[in-house]
Amino acid sequence: MSIVLGIESSCDETAIAVVEDGKHVLSSLVSSQISVHEVYGGVVPEIAAREHLKAISPMFDAALAEAKITSEDIDLIAVTQGPGLIGCLLVGVSFAKGLACSLRKPLIPVDHVHAHLHGALLGIADSNQLAPSQQVFPCLAMVVSGGHTNLYYMEDELNFNLFATTIDDACGECFDKVAKLLGFSYPGGPKIEKAASKGNSDRFSMPRMVQEKSRMEFSYSGLKTHMVNLKNKHGEFVEQDLYDVCASFQQEALGQLIRKIKFAYQKYPKAKSLIVAGGVAANSYFRDLVNKEIDLPAFFPGLAYCSDNAAMIASLGWHEYRAAQNCERFMEDQDWDAYSRYKFELYFQRN
Ligand code: KG4
Ligand code: ZN
Repeated sequence: MSIVLGIESSCDETAIAVVEDGKHVLSSLVSSQISVHEVYGGVVPEIAAREHLKAISPMFDAALAEAKITSEDIDLIAVTQGPGLIGCLLVGVSFAKGLACSLRKPLIPVDHVHAHLHGALLGIADSNQLAPSQQVFPCLAMVVSGGHTNLYYMEDELNFNLFATTIDDACGECFDKVAKLLGFSYPGGPKIEKAASKGNSDRFSMPRMVQEKSRMEFSYSGLKTHMVNLKNKHGEFVEQDLYDVCASFQQEALGQLIRKIKFAYQKYPKAKSLIVAGGVAANSYFRDLVNKEIDLPAFFPGLAYCSDNAAMIASLGWHEYRAAQNCERFMEDQDWDAYSRYKFELYFQRN
């Protein structure tokens, strides 16, 4: 089992990758729909699903060509099962099921959020980032994306113990909403980062979550509401005012992540490293902050594997397939479907 085809279609990126042995990326293609959704200020689910439908088949051909393989060389197909936009997920899942049936190859469903962490592990495996004595596991692992702000304790590559999530907005979602408020186009995270690099982060004071000291969970709705009120009071932000408000917002939005990682390290002092993944992990101010403030070796995905991609799907699929007791099951059992949301009720019951 060495060549894995990864398929990702959970949101607004169609992605197909070919990965060997769970770590060597032979091809990783991503077709972004940003230009289609930009005019609406966010992703329109039905349009996104239709765009996936147009893109997925030619991208499959292109990914095989770039990896210099034929469909016969594929040993396993891994596809994002959820969470995500249901219409979008169904395009990827249906394509993957059809492919698995026609090629008679095993198919494994993969969790998108867990796979983001494998985007970072891919980097470690591929680039000799590890000194011989450096241990990755057990580790703290954080996913900060447009839909999720999650902290896990991982004993190994397949053990995802979720112990903190957001009680309202995700961090990336807050970046996007505040960016829209300030007049930037979607996705707003990178635009806020750029403007913030020219600003003074101490200029505007920002609020903190009321119960921050006693709760592991994240919260971004208070910060978002504060930004709405600030804009109403101040009026349009331009030039230096805009740079300063972006810097002040960014410092608090990312500062909360840093404080929670420190809190988590107190709870899990046996952690040997920190993995940070998801779109917000592309923020270079955040990377610097993590390296400066957190007393653990930190691993981030390469920039190409921070935002949605299929190499991370193939990598997690490879690990899960190898660990499965009964691999035959994946050949025959197609009795599963896409899921739109995490079962967060279970998490909140447990905590
Ligand atoms: O992981 P991702 O591509 O998609 C999801 O699964 O959500 O994350 C996208 C999110 C968006 O909210 C985007 O604004 C944010 O990541 N993002 C950033 C930066 N680059 C992307 N946020 C802050 N700074 C960045 N440089
Ligand atoms: Zn994602």
